[in-house]
Amino acid sequence: MRKFKLGIIGLGARGYTMLRDVILPFPEIEVTAVCDLYPDRVEEAAKLIEEKRGTKPFGTTDYIELLEKADVEAVYVPSAWETHIEIAIAAIRRHIITGIEVGGSYSVEECWDLVHAYEETGTPVMLMENCCFYKDELLATAMARAGKFGEIVYCHGAYAHDLRSEIAQGNVNRHYRLRNYTARNCENYPTHELGPIAKLLNINRGNRFVSLVSVASKAAGLDQYLKDHPELIEKDPTLKGRVFHQGDIVNTIITCQNGEQITLRLDTTLPRVYDREFTVRGTKGLYSQTTNTVFLDGEPEFGPDKTMNNAQKYEEEFLPEVWKTMSDEAKRISHGGMDGVMFRVFLDHIESGEPMPIDVYDAAAWMSVTALSAQSIAQGGAPQACPDFTNGKYLLREPKDVIPLNVSEK
Ligand SMILES: NC(=O)c1ccc[n+]([C@@H]2O[C@H](COP(=O)([O-])OP(=O)(O)OC[C@H]3O[C@@H](n4cnc5c(N)ncnc54)[C@H](O)[C@@H]3O)[C@@H](O)[C@H]2O)c1
Repeated sequence: MRKFKLGIIGLGARGYTMLRDVILPFPEIEVTAVCDLYPDRVEEAAKLIEEKRGTKPFGTTDYIELLEKADVEAVYVPSAWETHIEIAIAAIRRHIITGIEVGGSYSVEECWDLVHAYEETGTPVMLMENCCFYKDELLATAMARAGKFGEIVYCHGAYAHDLRSEIAQGNVNRHYRLRNYTARNCENYPTHELGPIAKLLNINRGNRFVSLVSVASKAAGLDQYLKDHPELIEKDPTLKGRVFHQGDIVNTIITCQNGEQITLRLDTTLPRVYDREFTVRGTKGLYSQTTNTVFLDGEPEFGPDKTMNNAQKYEEEFLPEVWKTMSDEAKRISHGGMDGVMFRVFLDHIESGEPMPIDVYDAAAWMSVTALSAQSIAQGGAPQACPDFTNGKYLLREPKDVIPLNVSEK
């Protein structure tokens, strides 16, 4: 069996759970190095690896030391938002294959720096956007590829996740969101919904983002939450009187070269239930993730009692094989199984040497939405031009799905 020597940089909630639930269960991965700014997190991860595998990884608090001294072929980077791109560039420039966890960028320049690091070295890099591998998004994408929705006109998605508790406990848990919600106002986490939409619309592969506008509501959700939870201020007195700049709701509209419109909503600081709202609208039908509905033109119109979950009837025909055969146990761990599917794809592409299905141009285009949205909001919703990180090559690049899709009409 081919062995992959992997390093992990960033061992917070995401890094540790991915190590425990997804990475260590792959027998072909040897986790040879771990890194975090906090020594206790390095020790905890090293202990887990020793327990599960009987080997001691190289451990460090300095990612440059990991990149230069450890025996790694690839690194996975679930560090905090501020350091993803910097660490990825350092790894790529040392010819170490890199999987970058998701987040937004702080400037368009750093996205260009990422692209240049890749182009100057050819080191494979993949944005580890797990939602691109989830069954709902793949089902709808397969149906779109098969022409079921006709010509696609509009897509929508949201990061709708009540994160008030996580944000408020940022200092207690040494987490990055608190400082970001204090200082910034932007579409700070676009890729969970935008990634699958961009793949469906062949962004950077015959299509591209042309411009965007973003507007933000006031920030009131966290203030109310802290009033309702004074115990959190007792635990972290820096929360008292803190002014949050991040608007509760941020709406972004992206216009694409081929005429499609995308809307995104960041919605993380008001009470709600989790939803990515993946929505595809075409001249012949729609998919809506919120109700798991497919509606095709010409079908009788029914209310929610009939259309709720009716997308299930298309699974036999359009769901990718990996999702049809996944065990219930696999679906229980790590985001309903999508993290495992994503990591398998990452390993397969390292092994085959095939270009990554979510590559550096996708990473730059998707992550740059955050920096561009900050500019747009600061300018009262003014349109921002989206850079073409492919420098025109999007006209030549063929569409590429993240995994093989079932698109044959039966
Ligand atoms: N794909 C998903 O479903 C998913 C889920 C959760 C988090 N994430 C992403 O994973 C990343 C981590 O999230 P988290 O919740 O674990 O955050 P976290 O704050 O718990 O962990 C981040 C860790 O990175 C470390 N770090 C930061 N800068 C570093 C550096 N220069 N060198 C080494 N280590 C460094 C921090 O010390 C911290 O331990 C974020 O980018 C987040 O967007 C993705």
